[in-house]
Amino acid sequence: MELRRLGDSTLNVSVIGLGTWVMGGVWWAEPDDMQSIEAIKVSLENGVNLIDTAPAYGYGRAERLVGQAIKGMRDKVVIATKCGLVWDEKGNISNNLKRDSLLREIDASLERLGVDVIDLYQVHWPDPNTPIKETFETLEEIRQSGKIRYIGVSNFSVEQMEEARKYAKIVSNQPPYSMFNRGIEKEILPYCRENNIGILAYSPMERGILTGKFHLDGVEPPDDLRRNHFTLSPEAFEPTKRCLSRLRQLAEEKGCTLGALAIAWVIHQDGIKSALVGARNAQQARQNIMAAEVALSKNDLERIEEILEDWQKELNRAK
Ligand SMILES: NC(=O)c1ccc[n+]([C@@H]2O[C@H](COP(=O)([O-])OP(=O)(O)OC[C@H]3O[C@@H](n4cnc5c(N)ncnc54)[C@H](OP(=O)(O)O)[C@@H]3O)[C@@H](O)[C@H]2O)c1
Repeated sequence: MELRRLGDSTLNVSVIGLGTWVMGGVWWAEPDDMQSIEAIKVSLENGVNLIDTAPAYGYGRAERLVGQAIKGMRDKVVIATKCGLVWDEKGNISNNLKRDSLLREIDASLERLGVDVIDLYQVHWPDPNTPIKETFETLEEIRQSGKIRYIGVSNFSVEQMEEARKYAKIVSNQPPYSMFNRGIEKEILPYCRENNIGILAYSPMERGILTGKFHLDGVEPPDDLRRNHFTLSPEAFEPTKRCLSRLRQLAEEKGCTLGALAIAWVIHQDGIKSALVGARNAQQARQNIMAAEVALSKNDLERIEEILEDWQKELNRAK
C-alpha cells in the first residue's frame, strides 16, 4: 500500500489508516473484542501501518485492544493515540489539557498500549479552559522525555494551530473529511498544505453512511450515533439516496464498492496523507483497504464533483 510522509516528520503512513473508535463501543452499537482484534491484524497484514486510537474510545478499551493486537508486530505499526478527553467515575467525558492531566494520561496510554513510545500523540479536541501554551509546552516536555515521537492535533482551527506551533512542532491535524463533509477545504486544508502539516482525515465514509447501506440497501440504522445523522432526516433522505445511487453507479464502473470510492476520493485530495477508516470486523477492514487500489481520473473526480453539487442543490431546496 502507498505510504506518505506525514508532515515534517520521519513517519511514513499508509494512505488507509485503521480507526478504532467503533471498537470502544459506547457511542456505537456494541462491538465484539475478538472481531476488533481480527480487524486490526488483517489490516496490518494487508499493508495498513497506521492505527488511530484514543483513551476516550470506550474508556481505554480501544487502546487495550490495539495493544493486544499488535503484540509482536510493534515495528510494523505507526501508533497514533490522543490526549485531552478524560472521564470521571460516572463515565462523563470532559476536556482537560492541563499539565498534570497530560502527564497522567501519557503513562496510562503507554500502559494500555503495552509500548514504550507512541509515534504520534494528538490533542483530541481543544480545551477552552487551558492556555495553549501550557498544553504544548507540556507535550514538548513529554516528547523530549522519549515517551512520544511526534505531536499532532485534531479538530483544531487555523488560529489554534498557529498558536500551538509557537511552543511545539505540529506534524499533523486530524479533522473530519468526506464527500459529505468538506468544511476543511476553505481554510484548514490550504493552511496545512502550506505549512507541511499532514492531514489525517477522519470519518471518510461519514460513519458508514457513504457505503450506501442505510439509504440504498434497506439496512436499518442502529440506535447509535448515526440515528441523528443529517442525511437520515426526512428532508435529506431522498436527495441523499439519489446521490448515493449515482455514486454507486460510478463505483460499479470502476469495479469497486461505494464505500471504497468514498475513501479513494478522500485520499485523492491534495494534502490528505491518510484516510482513517473505522472497521468493526475483518470483513469490513478488507473491503475498506481495497480503496487504496482505486485510481480516480480527472474525469472521475469531475463526475463526482457534479454529483455532489447536485446533491447540495437538492438539499438546499429541501430545507
Ligand atoms: N479525532 C476525532 O475527533 C475523531 C472523530 C471521529 C473519528 N475519528 C477517527 O476516525 C476513525 C474513522 O471514523 P468513523 O469510525 O467515525 O467513521 P467511518 O470510518 O466513516 O465509518 C466507520 C463505520 O462504518 C461502518 N463500516 C466500515 N466499513 C464498512 C463496510 N465495508 N461496509 C459497511 N459498513 C462499514 C462501521 O460501522 P457499522 O458496522 O456500525 O455500520 C464502521 O464503524 C475513527 O475510528 C477514529 O479513529 C476521530
